[in-house]
Amino acid sequence: MNVLEHSSALEKLNIVEQLQYLVQHFPHGIKCSTSFGIEDQLITHHIFKNNLPIEVFTLDTGRLFQETYATWNATLTRYQKTITPYFPPQQEVEKLLKEKGPNSFYESVEQRKACCHIRKVIPLQQALSGTQVWITGLRQDQSQQRQEVKLLQADEQYRLLKFQPLWNWTFEAVKTSAEKNNIVLHPLHSKGFPSIGCMPCTRAIQPGEDVRAGRWWWEDANNKECGLHIK
Ligand code: ADX
Ligand code: SF4
Repeated sequence: MNVLEHSSALEKLNIVEQLQYLVQHFPHGIKCSTSFGIEDQLITHHIFKNNLPIEVFTLDTGRLFQETYATWNATLTRYQKTITPYFPPQQEVEKLLKEKGPNSFYESVEQRKACCHIRKVIPLQQALSGTQVWITGLRQDQSQQRQEVKLLQADEQYRLLKFQPLWNWTFEAVKTSAEKNNIVLHPLHSKGFPSIGCMPCTRAIQPGEDVRAGRWWWEDANNKECGLHIK
């Protein structure tokens, strides 16, 4: 079966059935990345609650919010499951800080992307090595650049299939489902943070602001990606 055939089979299923379908059809490694934001917590809930053999992992950049670690811990307590952390390469972080200092990301887009590359992209490459399907919480209406997000799509960069079960969900739909399933919520959501990233690079948004306005807020509004999903 090709991507389109799998995709049209998946479109007829609910989220739990979709995850079960993936487990049946892709037995050689399915992994789900989490930043502990509401979308990821909802997907994680369905994976853990149904005991699915899918690794849930997080990229611990070393610059996460304390609230993110609290959410991570609360999730472990709730489900009694494992969440795998991937760390940035120590020597590269040491070199970056020695040469540029700890906050070089504020100085230019290039320096910010260099930090994201070391702290997020390299660990992601390590996490995804040998993986067949990568599950993420991306949604189309998170930004202009994310309009291209599909339920299932081939990812050339990591040479795998990317599955995004919430691709066409609205934020309201995610919230409703999160409430219904009583998921562990990141405490910063109720303080104006729709999107959870690294602490020095994420702020709360004002009512009416774009959902990604709080990410790298000092940069051009059309450039809110770190290289994990869109280069
Ligand atoms: S980002 O590229 O700007 O950081 P965003 O925060 O919107 O992404 O999250 C989109 C998806 O990327 C999440 O659903 C999750 O799968 C993945 N992701 C983002 N940050 C992390 C992280 N620190 N660890 C693991 N996965 C992450
Ligand atoms: Fe570095 Fe900020 Fe990117 Fe985190 S979001 S990896 S701190 S530049």
